[in-house]
Amino acid sequence: MQHFPHLFSELKIGKRTLKNRIITSPTGETMPSFDGSISTQVVDYYTEKAKGGAGAVTWGILAVEFPRGKTGDVKNRADTPKVIKDMNRMAESIQRYGALFIPQLFHAGAMTTAEAAEGNLPACVSDKEVEHLYISRYRKAGPMHELTTEEIKEMVQKFVKAAKICQRAGADGVNIHCAHGYLVNQFLSPDTNARTDEYGGSFENRIRFGIEVIEGIRKAVGPDFILGARIPGREWVTNAMTEEECVEFARRMEKAGCDYLDVSAGLNMSQAKVIETEVYPQGSKLDYALPIKAAVSIPVGTNGMLRDPQFCDDLIREGKVDFVLMARALICDPYWPQKASEGRVDEIRPCISCNDGCMGRVRLGYHLSCALNPVAGRETHLSKVLKVQDPKKVAVIGGGLAGMQAAIVAAQAGHCVTLLEQDNQLGGQLNLAHVPPHKEKIKEARDWFIAELARQKVEVKTGEKVSLQTIEALKPDSVIVATGAVPIDKLPIEGLENTVQAWDVLRGDVTIGENQKVAIIGGGIVACEVGQMMLGKNNQVSVIEMLPQIGGALEDIHLTDLLIEFQEKNVAVYVNATAKKVEKDKVVFEKDGKEEAVSADVIILSVGQKSAGTELVKELRAAGYKTIVAGDAKKPAKFVNATLDGFYAGLDV
Ligand SMILES: Cc1cc2nc3c(=O)[nH]c(=O)nc-3n(C[C@H](O)[C@H](O)[C@H](O)COP(=O)(O)O)c2cc1C
Ligand code: SF4
Repeated sequence: MQHFPHLFSELKIGKRTLKNRIITSPTGETMPSFDGSISTQVVDYYTEKAKGGAGAVTWGILAVEFPRGKTGDVKNRADTPKVIKDMNRMAESIQRYGALFIPQLFHAGAMTTAEAAEGNLPACVSDKEVEHLYISRYRKAGPMHELTTEEIKEMVQKFVKAAKICQRAGADGVNIHCAHGYLVNQFLSPDTNARTDEYGGSFENRIRFGIEVIEGIRKAVGPDFILGARIPGREWVTNAMTEEECVEFARRMEKAGCDYLDVSAGLNMSQAKVIETEVYPQGSKLDYALPIKAAVSIPVGTNGMLRDPQFCDDLIREGKVDFVLMARALICDPYWPQKASEGRVDEIRPCISCNDGCMGRVRLGYHLSCALNPVAGRETHLSKVLKVQDPKKVAVIGGGLAGMQAAIVAAQAGHCVTLLEQDNQLGGQLNLAHVPPHKEKIKEARDWFIAELARQKVEVKTGEKVSLQTIEALKPDSVIVATGAVPIDKLPIEGLENTVQAWDVLRGDVTIGENQKVAIIGGGIVACEVGQMMLGKNNQVSVIEMLPQIGGALEDIHLTDLLIEFQEKNVAVYVNATAKKVEKDKVVFEKDGKEEAVSADVIILSVGQKSAGTELVKELRAAGYKTIVAGDAKKPAKFVNATLDGFYAGLDV
């Protein structure tokens, strides 16, 4: 029986047919080699998505001019025939599984830096010091070069050349990136285009570059090659394209030769509108696709927070869009399409929109991965857990994220695994992390790991404090200690007895009412999330942080939104501030060599965590057990570290 029959029905795009309505939404993933040549890592990452059942695989932001046209550390490129050999290998690898291969062509324009452009001056549409211009804000990064009319015509040809390179490499089509604030979008938007020649001013002039790119490519590649575009449906900046302009641009793109349109949103000043946080609803960009779908006759797709097969199937059934694009859902579980198609929806590993392992890592210059799926970006070595020749008896102590991940992988490798958790329920810190506003998906993730333990036939024992004797009774060959962390509670601060621990607030052991003054000592991730919880209760929140900034290791997009929320809700943030003394109704702290104080009805302590279980590790090792320490028990860190560490521990038993 075919589950979700609308989602898994064929779709004609141009002269080609997609086997289903699922296209992987493009991701720039920092995996090619330093010169932009295609690595096995990148081939394997995208092949996994094809294997997982997507109808087409889009590869993100290949620069048509290199290095000036690239952004950040993403080195994907299609400017030179030198990439053809490896791109062809990639095309074959993806097409083998019945998926179409569609690279996305782009030029960063002003949305880069001289450093990312390797010493070249970034190209921009307008370099005027016009107050409203987005570019005026962006150019703080350094000087830029305003393209001359002649150079714009050459730029059109760079797109054409890159499309032909992709065609020669065996791709099924290309997607032209006209959204997210990159060069084509910079021409389109009045917020970035103040030109006075034929490429600026009127709507007709602003769309000219994009239209010429499409017409030029269509002429060069012929009618059989798929030509699509990611276009803005809404820009979320002050001086944005109007909705009517977005719709009219879509019509003109169809006329120019586009086979499909993928409607996105956002200039980069509004990153969360592009790569949404968990605050946004499923199908968050759908509203911008609807008027475009009504205005054109080529297939139209939407992206953004699409997570649930039924939701996607309904979109197709109701004719709202013709296809869906998913980025993070398929990073978290590339087998989403296959599992959905077979009705195994509960086996889909749910993306929690944390951005930590995917965009968060890309921003740090690391390769893309996933907080819940450490195989992402590491497919070459990790996608298949091989069965071992000599299965062992393995005890995993601790049923948090690292412990569950370790147990799952050890069981997949064929070991006989027992997982011991002292709490009455599995999940560890996942049980706290899902409590703050909008974090409900974390509960789903916890439940997925618990269900996966059962699927892998891991024996689970909860509610039992583990000692050396417990392990001796089990007689394991190897022990994985993933006992997590506990909050730090000893500090050189007088009067700590007047505080409550953030974890106790999250656990519900301490209830804080409404309309109170709440001071939080510590400004890391947990502290800020507890702060958000407190704001939800109409409390007046103060945060006292030793470091120069709050948010700790919070991923960029979340951090931006958090800072905006704190500012809007008048949170008093004290940075470079060291708490010295806590009294019943105030916190005294030192800032810039001076003593200050904030008054409070409740004072929450949230100053980080320390590893738990270190004594047990010593005892196990002294007793001769092969003992691997994983996750927070080794070093308190984030989910993305816990799953990877757990994965390796499970392999290394
Ligand atoms: C790590 C990462 C890289 C991305 N790179 C690109 C890109 O190269 N081109 C693009 O058009 N969108 C890019 N996006 C945006 C996604 O394609 C998608 O539009 C967005 O993440 C929202 O969809 P989702 O909720 O399915 O992730 C990227 C997103 C992520 C998370
Ligand atoms: S890192 Fe987070 S947001 Fe990114 S794919 Fe994984 S779960 Fe989703």
